[in-house]
Amino acid sequence: MSKRFDPKDKYFQKAKDEGYRARSAFKLDAIQKRFKLIRSADKVLDLGAAPGSFMQIAGRIVGDKGLVVGIDLLPIKPFRQLTMLAFEGDIFDEAVYEKVEVEAGVTLFDVITSDLAPATTGIKSVDAGRSFQLNEQVLKVSEGHLKRGGHVVMKAFPGVDHSELIRLAKKQFMHVKLFKPDAVRKSSKEVYIIGIGKL
Ligand SMILES: C[S@@+](CC[C@H](N)C(=O)[O-])C[C@H]1O[C@@H](n2cnc3c(N)ncnc32)[C@H](O)[C@@H]1O
Repeated sequence: MSKRFDPKDKYFQKAKDEGYRARSAFKLDAIQKRFKLIRSADKVLDLGAAPGSFMQIAGRIVGDKGLVVGIDLLPIKPFRQLTMLAFEGDIFDEAVYEKVEVEAGVTLFDVITSDLAPATTGIKSVDAGRSFQLNEQVLKVSEGHLKRGGHVVMKAFPGVDHSELIRLAKKQFMHVKLFKPDAVRKSSKEVYIIGIGKL
C-alpha cells in the first residue's frame, strides 16, 4: 500500500476526522503554533496549494477580513468562503499573478506559504534539484509579491543546493529558520525554511 495514503497514519486519520483535505494541514498548523507568522485579517498567498489543506489552516487564522489565495497546477476544489480563492496555474508563469491581481484585487501579501513539491523521480539528487528550482522561484515571487516585514514558509528537500537556498533567503529576510513539523514522516528529509521579516 502507498505510504501517502496509509490509513493507519495518525495524521491522515486526524485530517479525515477534522475535515482537512490533506494531512499537510498539520504541518502548517505546527509552523503557525511555533512561529505565529499568520495573523487575523492577513492576506496569504499559498503556492502549490492543491488540494487545499494549507489554505484551510490559513483561512481559519485570517478570518473573514483576510484573504487566502492558492495557486496550483492542479485544480483546487472551490471553497465556500469568498475570502478563499483558488487559481489553476504554474508558479513560473507571470500570467497567473496577473489573474490574481484582476480577480482577487491583490498584488502584495503579508505571508507566502509554499508546500510545492516537484513530480518526484525517486532519484534523490534530481528531486532535490527540482525542489531547489521551485524554491528559487518562491523567493522571486516573494521579492515581487510579499510586503516588507512579511514572512515566507517554504518546503525544501535538502540536497547540494540547500546552503545556497538558505543564503538566498538570508538576503531577503531578517531571520531564517529551519523547522521540521511532527507531521513530516520520520523517513522524509523534508524540512521547512521559514523567512521572517522581509527586509
Ligand atoms: C504536497 S502538494 C501541496 C499540498 C497542499 N499544501 C495542501 O496542504 O493541500 C504539492 C503541490 O505542488 C504543486 N506544484 C508543483 N509544481 C508546481 C508549479 N510549477 N506550479 C504550481 N503548482 C505546482 C503540485 O501540483 C502539488 O499539488
